Amino acid sequence: MLVLGIETSCDDTSAALVEDRTVLSNLVASQDALHADYGGVVPELAARRHLETVQTVIERALELGDRQLDEIDVVAVTRGPGLVGSLLVGLSAAQGLALALDRPLYGVNHLEGHVLSPLVEGQDDFPLLSVLVSGGHTAMYLVEDVGVYRELSRTRDDSAGEAFDKGAKMLDLGWPGGKVMDELGSRGDPTALRFPRPRVRDDSLAFSFSGLKTSLWDFLHSDDSKGHSLEDVCASYQEAIVDCLLKRVGEAVERFAPASVAVAGGVSANSRLRRRLTEELSQRGMTPLFPPLSLCTDNAAMIAYAAVRRMENGLPGEQLEAVSRLPLGSVQ
Ligand code: KG4
Ligand code: ZN
Repeated sequence: MLVLGIETSCDDTSAALVEDRTVLSNLVASQDALHADYGGVVPELAARRHLETVQTVIERALELGDRQLDEIDVVAVTRGPGLVGSLLVGLSAAQGLALALDRPLYGVNHLEGHVLSPLVEGQDDFPLLSVLVSGGHTAMYLVEDVGVYRELSRTRDDSAGEAFDKGAKMLDLGWPGGKVMDELGSRGDPTALRFPRPRVRDDSLAFSFSGLKTSLWDFLHSDDSKGHSLEDVCASYQEAIVDCLLKRVGEAVERFAPASVAVAGGVSANSRLRRRLTEELSQRGMTPLFPPLSLCTDNAAMIAYAAVRRMENGLPGEQLEAVSRLPLGSVQ
């Protein structure tokens, strides 16, 4: 089965071909440069750029995957969550294609795409503890099977990606700054500075990063900040984020005894998180799964792959089709 995936939920325009469970092509047109001056995604600009780019990205994904339009069996598209203007561009493109090709249209939850992305190259081993750490979300799920998710916790304030991006912004590292902080931090000493490890004081497994961000701001405006290299500041700040994540993952592993642990989302590309979690879980005889780097940040391959995995299990897609009868007040 050949699935064309389309993902435009935020600021990346992406199209991918996935055949059965194999990724044939995965093209991402990043809008980072467009939004960098604003220090964050500007929804109107994002939607307009998706509109300009989506068709070319789909054509290139077909070319790179060496397939023709009429070979596509299913069109899969991100239904949400995301920026509505951005989502609508992908949805309209997908609807148009599905109609023109007379193929089914399969709506996918963006979060499910991320959660299943470590399985593209990894083995299924359920129940799986999924740690979703992206720019928009930070949460843990217990995955009993494809399509069976139980949310264990989420962040009370910022996401892990925001903690990276806002910290990087304070350090003038550009936007989004997670990757740059990772690179600089890998050349610094993570014990040079001790940033607080914010804790939510209950047993909810929830994350919290806003206090950490404030402590970096306080530090940068104190006399203390002189005499520390940028690399050491990045390494120490990153270490605090990683510690917060590892603590909660450790607690969740204790409590739910999952068969495996998988990390997904943009922050799962972080080299320090990968190394420390791998070390920590090895003490429990476990090896965490991470997506390949190309599938960490937003991409359409994870959307097409999620559609494949759901269809294999006989699960329906998210409802997308225009319906002729729709009583006022009903939610469909
Ligand atoms: O999954 P994603 O593309 O977007 C959402 O769905 O939110 O994640 C983007 C986030 C950004 O905050 C970015 O700074 C972060 O992932 N990120 C990283 C790294 N690469 C991307 N954070 C830390 N280390 C990295 N290597
Ligand atoms: Zn995402």
